[in-house]
Amino acid sequence: MDDKKTKNLIMRLFNVRKRYGGILALNDITLDIEQGEFILISGPSGAGKSTLLKILGLAEKASEGQILIDGMNLARISSSRLPFLRRRFGMVFQDFKLIPNRTVYENVALVLEAAGENRSYIRKKVMQVLRTTGMEKKQKALPPTLSGGEQQRVAVARAVVGNPSVILADEPTGSLDATSAQAILDFLMDYHKKGATVLIASHNLHLLETHVRGRNVEICDGTIKRTATML
Ligand SMILES: Nc1ncnc2c1ncn2[C@@H]1O[C@H](COP(=O)(O)OP(=O)(O)OP(=O)(O)O)[C@@H](O)[C@H]1O
Ligand SMILES: [Mg+2]
Repeated sequence: MDDKKTKNLIMRLFNVRKRYGGILALNDITLDIEQGEFILISGPSGAGKSTLLKILGLAEKASEGQILIDGMNLARISSSRLPFLRRRFGMVFQDFKLIPNRTVYENVALVLEAAGENRSYIRKKVMQVLRTTGMEKKQKALPPTLSGGEQQRVAVARAVVGNPSVILADEPTGSLDATSAQAILDFLMDYHKKGATVLIASHNLHLLETHVRGRNVEICDGTIKRTATML
């Protein structure tokens, strides 16, 4: 039996390249992602971790190669369907990308408003994720008045509020002290335990000691250098 068919591959990348002008940020990436996996993308600064995560989260387009989502060729999916597809992915950007003139509450609520949820559900759900990320008291604050770690927690809250089946978190603990970093990691691991696929990009190798069964994809100079199982 074809092993690939027995796995639920939600995403497949074949020979993906990404160019930014003359810079080749990703070179020949071939990678399968299974539903429910926990993947740590590691590698040195400039290796292409953020670029890979953005391509996987449909926040950037590949320059070359093929991407299949649930077996469908991404290049053949109409642009009107893309926003619906993107809702399956919750992205924590390395630079947060919060809207500076909207409050913490509004930044998180926007995801659910765009999905057409009703006001009472939005209120309940946003407050719940702000509580679990420890940002409830700052709900009326504007992002520029927050510390880096607080902004990071809002970015995590916004990524999970729509119950996406895939979370992609870029250096999600980069601006946090050890206690808050552990809290965010525990939060992402709990989300994974509920059945979500979780991908974390980080150059922090301590994350390899997360004690989560998963996969470490190490990249260097835009290519996959090594894939290893984490136990
Ligand atoms: N928007 C962009 N325009 C031009 N070059 C870019 C852009 N984004 C990334 N690059 C380049 O692509 C390469 C990979 O960048 P990327 O941000 O993916 O690295 P990274 O592994 O996430 O690094 P870090 O650990 O520092 O976050 C780098 O050489 C970077 O300068
Ligand atoms: Mg990066």
